[in-house]
Amino acid sequence: MSKDFSTMEDSNPSANTSIHEVSDPTRRVVLRGGLGALMGAMGAAGWGLGGCASLADMGSSSGAGALLGFKSVPVATVDAVSVPPGYVTQALAAWGEPVGLSGEMPAFRFDASNSAAEQQAQMGMHHDGIHYFPIDGSSTHGLLVMNHEYTDDGLLHTDGMKTWTAAKVKKSQAAHGISVIEIEWLDQRWQHVQPSPWARRITAESPITLSGPAAGHALMKTAADASGTRVRGTLNNCASGLTPWGTYLSCEENFSHYFNCPTPPDAHGKRWGLKKVDAALYRWHEFDERFDASRHPNEPNRFGWVVEIDPFNPSSTPIKRTALGRAAHEGATVAVTRDNHAVIYMGEDARFEYIYKFVSRDPIQPGGARANATLLDHGTLFVARFDTDGQGAWLPLVHGQGPLTPANGFADQGEVLIKTRQASDLLGGTKMDRPEWTAVDPKTRKVYCTLTNNSQRGADKFPGVDAANPRVNNTMGHIIEWLDDGDFDGIRLTWQHFVLAGNAASSRPNARGNVKGNAFGCPDGLWIDGRGVLWIETDMSTKDMGQGDLAELGHNALLAADPSTGEIRRFLVGPAGCEITGATGTPDGCTMFINIQHPGESPSERSDPDAPRKISNWPDQRPDGRPRSATLVIRKADGGMIGT
Ligand code: FEO
Ligand code: CA
Ligand code: CA
Repeated sequence: MSKDFSTMEDSNPSANTSIHEVSDPTRRVVLRGGLGALMGAMGAAGWGLGGCASLADMGSSSGAGALLGFKSVPVATVDAVSVPPGYVTQALAAWGEPVGLSGEMPAFRFDASNSAAEQQAQMGMHHDGIHYFPIDGSSTHGLLVMNHEYTDDGLLHTDGMKTWTAAKVKKSQAAHGISVIEIEWLDQRWQHVQPSPWARRITAESPITLSGPAAGHALMKTAADASGTRVRGTLNNCASGLTPWGTYLSCEENFSHYFNCPTPPDAHGKRWGLKKVDAALYRWHEFDERFDASRHPNEPNRFGWVVEIDPFNPSSTPIKRTALGRAAHEGATVAVTRDNHAVIYMGEDARFEYIYKFVSRDPIQPGGARANATLLDHGTLFVARFDTDGQGAWLPLVHGQGPLTPANGFADQGEVLIKTRQASDLLGGTKMDRPEWTAVDPKTRKVYCTLTNNSQRGADKFPGVDAANPRVNNTMGHIIEWLDDGDFDGIRLTWQHFVLAGNAASSRPNARGNVKGNAFGCPDGLWIDGRGVLWIETDMSTKDMGQGDLAELGHNALLAADPSTGEIRRFLVGPAGCEITGATGTPDGCTMFINIQHPGESPSERSDPDAPRKISNWPDQRPDGRPRSATLVIRKADGGMIGT
C-alpha cells in the first residue's frame, strides 16, 4: 500500500540435516533439496532446483558483474512496463478475472458492474504478496497464491462511491483477501488454468481460525464469537511468506482503517490507530456493524495477524497465528536454523514501529503441512533493538519477563501478543522508518529489511534520528542488513546499512543517499532469488510520485542488487500510478512473477468513477476499460535465467 499510513499521529511519539525432503504424501507438492535449499526459498521461490539452465552454468554469483547481466532501463513515465532488451512480459490474472472455481466463472465486466457474488469468484483487487508453489517440482506448472491488499472503491463500482450501499460493502469485502490459482506454461505462454481443483478465494468474510496464546483470550471474544477463536475474514493482506512445510503466510497490515471508532479510543485503541472513519477510508461499518469498534470493541483485536494457508488443501481453514504477534504486518520471511527451528522475520509498516522475529519452540518436522500444523503456535517473539555501535539485540516479548507484567497492563502472554506495540515500547525496541519486507540471503545468512520512508523522522514532537534511522525527513528510505549472532535464533546481532536510497543528483543533500548505481526511492518489496540477486521493489506513494525529492524518479520500479558488491541496477519500470510489489519465480529461475498493484491510482487513492482511465488503462488499454492490478510474468526471450 502506498499511502503513508501511520499510527504515529494517534500514538505517543515519546513512548517508546536431518530432513532432506519436506513433502506431504497427500499432496502433489514436493519441496526438494533439503532445508538448506529451502532456506533460499524463504520468502522466495526455491529457484535453482534445475531447469532451463543450471546454477553452475551461470558462474559464481560472487564475481563482480557476474550476477547482474542485463542492461539497466531508464526512468520512465509511460503507461506501460519497461524491461531490459531481451526480456518479455505478460499480464496474468488481473483483477476481476475468474479464479477458476468449477461452475462459477463470471467474466469481468469492464464497466465494473460485477456483483459482490461474482467478485467473490474473481481475482481480488490490488495484488500484493505472491508465491509460486510448484506442482511436483515443476517450473511449468504450479499454483500462484497472492494477496489482495485493499480496494479503490472509485474503481471497484460503476459509479464509485457516489452512493454507498450494503452491496458495495460486500463487493469491497469480496475483493479483499487471497487468491489461489493454477497456472501452466503452454503454447509459449503462462496460462491461467480455469477451472482448477485448487482455485480458491479467501475474502474478508471467509471463516478463519485463531490459534496460539491469544486465541480464546477475553480480548478476542465478541458477541458473534464467544469462544474468541473464530474470525470472519482477513483484510489488508500485504506481503507474504513461504514456510518450508509448504504453506503460505499472508500478513494483515493496516487493519485499523477498517474500523470506525466514533468516540475517542482508549489507550489501547489509540496506540493502534483507531479513529473515526472519514470519507477517505472504507466505510464498511455503515452496513456491517462488526466494523464499528464502539459496538464491538474487541473486533479490531482479531486483525493484524499472520495468516497461514495451505494452498494444496482448498478445504482447509486458514489460521491466524497469534504467537507471531499482532502488528500492521508487512511480511513474514522464514529462515531455518541449523537445528531446524523456524525463524520468521517481520516488519511492521508504520512510522516509528518495529522489526520482529519469531523463533519456533520446536523443530520443523518432515511430513509437510500436516506434520507442522501447530509449529507456529509455540515459540518466542522478539523485537529488534539496533544500537549505535553496529551491534543490537533481540528483546523477548515474554509475559512476566522484564516490564511485561500485570502491573504494567499485561495479564498474560495473550495480552502481550495482542498489545505487541505497547510491549515493544516498554522493552525499548528501536522505532524504525516504516519497516516493510524482509529477505534472507541463504549464502551469507544476512537478513535485509526495507525501511520505506518516514517524513516525520526528526520533525517537531516526533523521534529524532538514531543510528539505524539516520536521516531527518527521510523521504527516500533505506535498507538495513544484519547478521544474527551464531544462528538465526541468536539474541544479539550485528547490523549496517545496505544502502541509503536516493538520487545522487538531488538538490537536497539528505535525499541523495549512497546508491551504487541507479537512483531509486521508497524501497518496499524485497526478494532474494536462487542466484542471490536481491530484488528491490519501490512504492513511492501516488501522492508524492514525480514531485519534490521524487521528481526525477519516474514511476515505481523493480531494481536488482548484487549483495556482494552493493551495485543496484534498474530492471523494470511500471505503468502509471502503480506500485511494484510481490516477487516470486519458478524453480528453474526462468520465470519471475511480480505484481503490478493499483495502476492508475490517484493521489487520493480513490479513482474518479467518471474518468477511470484518466491516469492509466493498463494492462488492457481498452477504450471502455479501466486499470487493473495484475500479476506480471517476466521471461527472457531466449528462455534464460532472469537477471543474467
Ligand atoms: Fe502494504 Fe506497507 O505496504
Ligand atoms: Ca508494501
Ligand atoms: Ca509501501
